[in-house]
Amino acid sequence: MKTSDDTLTLRRPDDWHIHFRDGAHLAAVVPYTARQFGRALAMPNLKPPMTTTAALADYRTRILAAVPTGLAFEPMLTLYLTDATTPEEIQRASGAGFVVGAKLYPAGATTHSDAGVTSIDKVWGALEAMAEHGLVLQVHGEVTEPGVDVFDREQAFIDRVLSRVVDRIPALKVVFEHITTRVAAQFVRASRKGVAATVTPQHLLLNRNAIFEGGIRPHHYCLPVLKREQDREALVEAATSDDPRFFLGTDSAPHAKHAKEAPCGCAGIFSAHAAIELYAEVFDQAGRLERLESFASERGADFDGRARNRGTITLRRERWTVPESYEYGPGSERLVPFRAGGTLAWRLVDAA
Ligand code: DOR
Ligand code: ZN
Repeated sequence: MKTSDDTLTLRRPDDWHIHFRDGAHLAAVVPYTARQFGRALAMPNLKPPMTTTAALADYRTRILAAVPTGLAFEPMLTLYLTDATTPEEIQRASGAGFVVGAKLYPAGATTHSDAGVTSIDKVWGALEAMAEHGLVLQVHGEVTEPGVDVFDREQAFIDRVLSRVVDRIPALKVVFEHITTRVAAQFVRASRKGVAATVTPQHLLLNRNAIFEGGIRPHHYCLPVLKREQDREALVEAATSDDPRFFLGTDSAPHAKHAKEAPCGCAGIFSAHAAIELYAEVFDQAGRLERLESFASERGADFDGRARNRGTITLRRERWTVPESYEYGPGSERLVPFRAGGTLAWRLVDAA
């Protein structure tokens, strides 16, 4: 990585957690990711959910069709795990080459998760097959019991589900996605080999006060929900440390403006328009800019056993104003990005 006072050149990064949606929405958002990242792991929570390798292959083709000419971007896919996922499907996914893992959504935990796993006891066979065939388990780590406070769901998931998975199948690689708490960071740090976590820009930059600043702020609502300031600080410490277990996954999750600004607004924060700039701000504020490349471009690829990207991107220290909204498909739908109308301290100026 090369740094000067006001520029930063790093190996082209990867985004290990992204929502691209489908159809016109897909075409609207893929270019934001493809211009900065070499690869991104596309989430399978579509309607219908991507539960087969065949469906993922078609989806991959649609993603590639949305990549602007001249950009070398590679989509990675993950199979949507259900109670009915068979070891044969896992084997097929593993053989496809572009499927890096399978995603565990506890049923009802988040957007389009109703087809997800109803009990971990239903999927031990699939998880064993994943360990055997070298697929990584990507986990949305929250319990769904209505009796558990929404701010405690990640910790309850660690205690009731994740620790059992990690212990019972020692050969299974597990990515605890979009961690939000100090407890989760500690769990990952203390875990066996083969357990890692992704961290989003919003959980590094905001605490839960941001949801209620002067009124209800739907564009700061995502799942898992933002947590306390102590949690945010622990996540910054983990991400900017030299621990290879913590790496970049934006969880950029676009929803149309009208679907967010509604009586029952959707969960998700769109950050792909400025993902690497947002992370640069975090690492800069922590005085750890020299670790950004490792977090963004090395640790995820190393964990997955993939080659690191070859190209580079360059950021410049330059203030710019994020638009209030972007187009979201050919109709009149709009997309309100993270930091809409606000300023960013870094700007992506080149990709090679
Ligand atoms: O905020 C979120 N949005 N969290 C998720 O887990 C899903 C995502 C989405 O698909 O909108
Ligand atoms: Zn997500």
